[in-house]
Amino acid sequence: MSGGHGAPAWIAAPGRPLAGRLRVPGDKSVSHRAVMLGALAEGTTRVTGFLEGEDTCATAAILQRLGVRIEAPGEGERLVHGVGLHGLRAAEGPLDCGNAGTGMRLLAGLLAGQGFDSVLTGDASLSKRPMRRVIEPLERMGARIDSEGGLPPLRIHAKNALQSIDYECPVASAQVKSAILLAGLYASGPTTVREPHPTRDYTERMLAAFGADLEFAPGIATLRPGRVLTATSVDVPADFSSAAFFLVAASLIPGSHLVLERVGVNPRRTGLLDALKLMGADIRLRPAGEQGGEPVADLEVRAAPLRGAVIPEALVPDMIDEFPALFAAAALAEGTTVVRGAAELRVKESDRIAVMAEGLRALGAAIDETPDGAVITGSGFTAKAGSGTSAGTRSGALRGGRADSRGDHRIAMSLAVAAQCAAGEVRIDDVANVATSFPGFDALARGVGFGLRLA
Ligand code: S3P
Repeated sequence: MSGGHGAPAWIAAPGRPLAGRLRVPGDKSVSHRAVMLGALAEGTTRVTGFLEGEDTCATAAILQRLGVRIEAPGEGERLVHGVGLHGLRAAEGPLDCGNAGTGMRLLAGLLAGQGFDSVLTGDASLSKRPMRRVIEPLERMGARIDSEGGLPPLRIHAKNALQSIDYECPVASAQVKSAILLAGLYASGPTTVREPHPTRDYTERMLAAFGADLEFAPGIATLRPGRVLTATSVDVPADFSSAAFFLVAASLIPGSHLVLERVGVNPRRTGLLDALKLMGADIRLRPAGEQGGEPVADLEVRAAPLRGAVIPEALVPDMIDEFPALFAAAALAEGTTVVRGAAELRVKESDRIAVMAEGLRALGAAIDETPDGAVITGSGFTAKAGSGTSAGTRSGALRGGRADSRGDHRIAMSLAVAAQCAAGEVRIDDVANVATSFPGFDALARGVGFGLRLA
């Protein structure tokens, strides 16, 4: 993605009503885990639907540097020739996780119990993200990890065996839970993780599919070490978080009707559906069986007048990556939306409360930050705009202008959604990182009616 001088930018403009069927790329969380567990398994794991994004490719490249042979016979396909739990070997030099918090935190757990040293680094955004949340429990298990101020790089020292632990997570984080469970594969006894609120359970489901000895229920998981992992095949479902931009855009743009095919609908990911339904969205879920051990569904969305809502705090962990998109919906709904209990948004790829507030305000939206959320007074666009009304005369439209994604992929895409409901062109700066989770977003979005091109 290069668009003239400096970091790439998009020009987004009101497009046509969205129409068609589309399949978004593979789930990022599942893709990371599939190659990691494939690497630790005995035998060859075949991954299909693998997300060809920078984050997941960085994880695969690190595993290759640790001695795992990974073939890519086709788009979205990986053959991971597992080396077994004790077959990884030291890599020369630092292991670059790129932009990926999932990559770094899960690999920290996986590498904590190896008999060699490793150094995990990341890009400028990842280098500001809190790692103490994994360092602390891993150290309690006996790992030795150096960092400055709890930030990357992480220097992980050789350790041949870890201790078992029963750990109560202070934050609801699937990454922390997963790091501990992966370290638990190398512990002397059972490892239990308890969560303040249930988070996505992909690590647990996939460990079970690879033959690990574990029990789990929402909010708790116990892994007993000692069993080998056995290669399997993983067919990665489409990423709900990538589908989210289209669910919101089609809800907002009058006259839209879209079907998103075979999206992963693990209930720990679909909080946005509940939030949008509270706001009056018209989204139907048609179950389409299971894929890669996960429930999948076709999601059919039609434009609807949205109302503001108080987002229940209990939904926050189930929609943690969808708040930038929700903020865009709220800015165009009728009435006030209140988000609370979402302070974690401040330590994602960017401070997503501050950066979304800044970006939406630049387009004329009324949004006030709070320490753990935001209060957004919608423009009433969806209620006022009649289908087919030309952009320039739409009442409640945002204004054209310029907004900065601050290098955060989900913010870039959420601003592109909001810009579909502006009265003029919007330049969105610093969009290169969209390739971390959703390569080809702009082309796919244009194909269903978005106004979006490289600057
Ligand atoms: C992820 C967990 C979430 C999420 C991230 C992916 C995962 O992070 O925001 O995009 O794959 O486990 P936290 O565990 O920090 O909440």
